[in-house]
Amino acid sequence: MEIVRYLKSFDRSSFDCGVPELNDWLRTQATQKEAANNTRTFLAIDDDKIVGYYATTTYRLELDEVAVAFGSGKRKFPVPAVLLARLAVDKKSQDQGIGARLLVHALTEFARAGESVGFEVVVVHAIDADAVTFYARFGFQQFEGHPLHLFMPTKDLMRTLGRG
Ligand SMILES: CC(C)(COP(=O)(O)OP(=O)(O)OC[C@H]1O[C@@H](n2cnc3c(N)ncnc32)[C@H](O)[C@@H]1OP(=O)(O)O)[C@@H](O)C(=O)NCCC(=O)NCCS
Repeated sequence: MEIVRYLKSFDRSSFDCGVPELNDWLRTQATQKEAANNTRTFLAIDDDKIVGYYATTTYRLELDEVAVAFGSGKRKFPVPAVLLARLAVDKKSQDQGIGARLLVHALTEFARAGESVGFEVVVVHAIDADAVTFYARFGFQQFEGHPLHLFMPTKDLMRTLGRG
């Protein structure tokens, strides 16, 4: 399995992670969002097939999220962030460590980007409660009031990846 930058030549029609919204996004949105520099998508490829993907973009913390991440009244808008908007693994390839590898790849790409573009927090949007558990295992914390939104301060990310 290798993880590569998005290429529209790979067949997206048979990808099925069990969550229609995440399948549809890859099929119908990924190409145009990539072309528009709106999201960056990376694909996990095995035997010439897409077995997983993730998509990232920029983000700005909302005021209530700022209060959770930094303490009430401590910080003013805006707090720049990056967002891991989607991450999915095909049902046939789940439970083999591919989701974890995609997440570590995404975090490594964020850490690299963080050396040339400033952002204070990495945010992930989980699709459901199961996904929250998946991200929490990797050190992401939940935003109070936004149970499907989680965050990791960039300084923790850099420290974890030995770049702090
Ligand atoms: C969640 C998902 C990405 C996990 O991918 P995966 O390749 O099956 O996960 P991995 O095999 O890499 O598992 C990594 C670890 O997370 C755990 N894990 C996997 N799926 C989990 C879930 N749904 N809930 C909680 N923990 C989970 C595994 O047990 C494993 O732990 P371990 O290292 O202690 O054994 C995948 O199940 C998926 O695509 N689900 C549908 C879409 C979705 O929920 N996307 C996530 C957020 S948008």
